[in-house]
Order: sequence, then C-alpha cells, then structure tokens
Amino acid sequence: MYNPFTLEGKTMLITGASSGIGRSIAIECSKMGGNVIITGRDLARLRQTTNELSGSLNRLIVADLLNQESVYNLAEELPVLDGIVHCAGINKLMPLKFIKDDLFNKVMGTNFNSPALLTSKLHKKKKIAKGASIVFVSSISAFYAALANSVYMASKGAVNAFVKGLALELASSEIRVNSIQPGMIQTSLLENSLLGSEALNDDEARYPLGRYGKPEDVAYTVVYLLSDASKWVTGSILTIDGGVTLR
Ligand SMILES: NC(=O)c1ccc[n+]([C@@H]2O[C@H](COP(=O)([O-])OP(=O)(O)OC[C@H]3O[C@@H](n4cnc5c(N)ncnc54)[C@H](OP(=O)(O)O)[C@@H]3O)[C@@H](O)[C@H]2O)c1
Repeated sequence: MYNPFTLEGKTMLITGASSGIGRSIAIECSKMGGNVIITGRDLARLRQTTNELSGSLNRLIVADLLNQESVYNLAEELPVLDGIVHCAGINKLMPLKFIKDDLFNKVMGTNFNSPALLTSKLHKKKKIAKGASIVFVSSISAFYAALANSVYMASKGAVNAFVKGLALELASSEIRVNSIQPGMIQTSLLENSLLGSEALNDDEARYPLGRYGKPEDVAYTVVYLLSDASKWVTGSILTIDGGVTLR
C-alpha cells in the first residue's frame, strides 16, 4: 500500500521512552513498521512501553544519560541506526536567586550534553547509517520566555543551535538533523509542574487551537521527520504548539 511515511525496515533509538512524549513516539514509530530501541532509567515503566509496542524486533536498554559511562556503554551496545530521537529531558522551574550549582549540571547535562555526547559517540563508531534522520526534542522555551525557566530555556536553545551545526556537518553523509519544539504537552512533566490547576487552565485557554498538546501530536511529527517523506528536510526547527507562540 502506498505510504510515504512508512518506517518499515528502519531501526530507531528513542531516549526518554519510559513515559510521556518519548513513550508515544516509540509506540507510533512501531505502529509505522519501525523497530525501536527504547531507553530510560525506570525499567518498570520501560516495560510498560514495551507492552504497547507493535512488532517483535523491539529492544529495551536501561541507561542513565546523566552518567557519562552509561552513555559510552549505550553507544557501544547499540546497532547501526536509521533514526535517533533524543527525547529524554527534565525541567525544573527555579528563580535565579534559588539556583544551585547542581541545577546547571542536571538540566544542561540531561537536555543538551548527553544527547550531544551520544550523537558524537555513535557517529565516531559509524553507527548512524547513511540516510538516517536524527530528531532532537527541544521546546518553545528555546525562544519563548517564562518566569523561573531560564536554565531550561538555555538548554533547549543550545539544542537548537547544535542541530543547525550538525545538520550542516552531516549533510555530506546524507544524515539529516532536525529539532522539534513543542508547546505544553499533557505529560507527567506538566503534572509535576509547580503551577496549580487554576494557573494551568488559564494558560491552556491562551492556546489558539483551544487545548494543550497530546503526546501523539508530537509523535506524528517525529514519524514524518524519521520517514523518507522528509528526506529533503534538514536543519529545521519545527514548532508544534497549537499556535500559542503566535501571540
Ligand atoms: N511536556 C511538555 O509540555 C514538553 C514541552 C516541550 C518540550 N518537552 C520535552 O519533551 C521531552 C519529553 O518530556 P515529557 O513531557 O515526555 O517528560 P516525562 O514524561 O517526564 O519524560 C521524560 C523522559 O526523560 C527520561 N529521562 C529523564 N532524565 C533521564 C536521564 N538522566 N537518563 C535517561 N533518561 C532520562 C525519563 O526517563 P526515566 O523516568 O525512566 O528516568 C522519561 O522517559 C523532554 O525533552 C522535554 O523537555 C516537553
């Protein structure tokens, strides 16, 4: 059947697949025929994701991406990949005067350093196939300010800049690199937010398309970027935000 978005025959790594957006990306990629390798720290939640995957060639690897050794081991263990989705990430709202040294290490480490390091290790080991697609999950926070969010914003801004540099550098190997920047998506990241339900409802009402996003809204975009339908797309930063940043 004609389907330019198929992921049949592709093997893809999806980090942060034990919950939220990453879990949904893994599920949708497997439904589109791809073989997915999922990672996260929480084995029980990774198994829950596995139970929802289609196909029989999927794998699960537990890895703490804040631990350098663990990133090296992951790069060693992985096969040659046709797709990589860097989705693992954390956010912690913190006003400037309460920021402790460790916050920079944790937020920049998880959101920027570790996906950058993993990509570099995989490339050196020739584990990113010719024609592969790499997707970084950034955020509208890269350019859209919110109070107490400056470190997270910086981490996502770094991701977007890295994507531009890599896209240029890897184009001669026919490897595409893109970033997506979602607005608010209904996941545990939001449930653990410091904002109360009233503030969240008010915020949701500002979205021109009338609601916060769902993980699948992001996953479908990632499917497109991993598929050959987007084979002329590289260095793009795609906003998926229900129109909120139009205001
Ligand atoms: N939700 C939103 O509104 C929103 C908006 C824009 C962008 N984003 C971005 O989307 C991505 C996913 O967010 P989400 O909302 O789906 O959050 P989530 O449900 O909290 O999921 C975060 C994922 O990252 C993994 N992770 C965190 N630290 C890790 C570490 N040190 N090593 C390995 N894995 C780690 C978690 O795995 P374990 O729990 O197994 O450790 C989990 O699978 C993040 O990059 C986030 O910045 C989210």
